[in-house]
Amino acid sequence: MFDKDKKLIFSGIQPTGVFTLGNYIGAVRNWGPLQDEYNCIYCIVDLHAITVKQEPAVLRKNTLGAYALLLACGIDPEKSIAFIQSHNPNHAELSWVLSCSTQFGELSRMTQFKDKSAKHADNINAGLFTYPVLMAADILAYNADLVPIGADQKQHLELARNIAVRFNQKYSETFTVPEPYIPTVGARVMSLQDPEKKMSKSDANPNACVYILDDKDTIIRKFKRAVTDSEAEVVYREGKAGINNLITIYSAVTGKAVAEVEREFEGKGYGDFKLAVGEAVADSLENVRTEYARLIADKAYLEQCYKQGAEQAYSISRRVVSKAYKKVGFIQR
Ligand code: TRP
Repeated sequence: MFDKDKKLIFSGIQPTGVFTLGNYIGAVRNWGPLQDEYNCIYCIVDLHAITVKQEPAVLRKNTLGAYALLLACGIDPEKSIAFIQSHNPNHAELSWVLSCSTQFGELSRMTQFKDKSAKHADNINAGLFTYPVLMAADILAYNADLVPIGADQKQHLELARNIAVRFNQKYSETFTVPEPYIPTVGARVMSLQDPEKKMSKSDANPNACVYILDDKDTIIRKFKRAVTDSEAEVVYREGKAGINNLITIYSAVTGKAVAEVEREFEGKGYGDFKLAVGEAVADSLENVRTEYARLIADKAYLEQCYKQGAEQAYSISRRVVSKAYKKVGFIQR
């Protein structure tokens, strides 16, 4: 199904809840168009998820939910490979081999490990420590060229690159050394309650963050409560972080330029503007919401898609893992 001339993008998604409006505008909504330009593999990383405490029933529900959301956001299982990590044993197998080419010291320096150890002090398990090796295996098992990542995963990708280079030097050319994929578009969406901070699902204030499956009323309510300033001018300028954020969001979902937005709301109050932004956001997310509802109700279709995805993922990664096994000196079965 993949075109040999196109570069391969591998993306791993944690099955922890819904994307935020920030994820959507900054990245997710560009995934659909990306599928024509690249060979894309999307993986719901349930093996990674259990490095922190999970309620089994909740993990099961979130994994399927994350998978359905991927499709609802425009990932087409006929164009891309979308699967669930635990359905392909090659990730865990390669992870073991790569862990023997990774140093204890390197893993000790990972800032996410340090942060998560501090946060989950009662559960500093070995999987949390070797998390970045499994992530390297995810990527290297497909010889991915590009990996879309945010700033928080930069160090992990750097480690994956180092592991690939080291393995290639030790055992001869085996893995592609992956590059970060930096999307060309994507505005930065800030918190609705503290517009100096990035919009984040870990925000304590539930009004700070819009989720892409929020219903229309909820979205409008959150925008009505958005923090602005004591002026009354819808213009984009320094010192108006709240209004700047709303203009950015409105411009991103309507495609209107900033100057056009300023003209549209000239002489109008913040109340009108906030309502307009809320409505525009809700409208732009409506397709995702209805598509998600349709998919999550159709378990048979989802199953058919993730089974097919797992088979495709297995066959690509098996070749790579077999090659790595041969290189390290394992006897072929
Ligand atoms: N660690 C990534 C995150 O928390 C998820 C992930 C797992 C991933 N494996 C990956 C991302 C491979 C990119 C490539 O967001």
